[in-house]
Amino acid sequence: MRSLYTLSMSLLVIALLSGCQRPATVGAPEPQLPNYPDNIPLRARGLGLPGGGAAGSAPANEPTQSTQVASAKPASPEEWGKQLFNQHGCVSCHSNKQVAPLLEGLYGQAAHALANGSTIKADEDYIRESIINPTAKVAKGYPPIMPSFSHLPKEEVDALVAYIKSL
Ligand code: HEC
Repeated sequence: MRSLYTLSMSLLVIALLSGCQRPATVGAPEPQLPNYPDNIPLRARGLGLPGGGAAGSAPANEPTQSTQVASAKPASPEEWGKQLFNQHGCVSCHSNKQVAPLLEGLYGQAAHALANGSTIKADEDYIRESIINPTAKVAKGYPPIMPSFSHLPKEEVDALVAYIKSL
């Protein structure tokens, strides 16, 4: 009985102590809580304001980087196609009509002359085929020296076609 009494008393004491501690701990953060939010926005503002110049340049750097990434693959397919046209060396042949036909005005020609004497409509499919399988239909007046670009990813061919269509 004594031990039970002692147990229950000690439990009571613990309960009381912890009960006292709880309001104490609850009471303690309560005045602190309004302090923290006060401090945090102030610190945040303090960091933000002087950083305003530095932070202004830091976020300015981030968009610059993303713009650089974006410029590697521009928003419009025509622009990207132009880059790819240079990148893949198309321009080295197609800027000299002694070597390869200039592609300006090719798209949409109703009767584009081929080496075999026939004509074809220079539509999107023809341009695409000319890139992937250049010897399938050879343009009149030129030897079939263009290498195949069938290894290019579809998106790149799409962009090149879009660029050539825009010429
Ligand atoms: C080594 C030189 C060379 C390179 C590099 C080259 N081409 Fe050509 N291309 C030619 C020649 C020559 C022709 C004409 C003969 C033929 O149709 O195969 C031609 C034809 C074409 C045609 C059809 C033109 C027409 O008037 O019917 C298209 C479109 C074309 N090339 C696109 C490209 C693209 C896009 C690239 C780069 C991915 C490229 N070429 C790279 C030499 C080249």
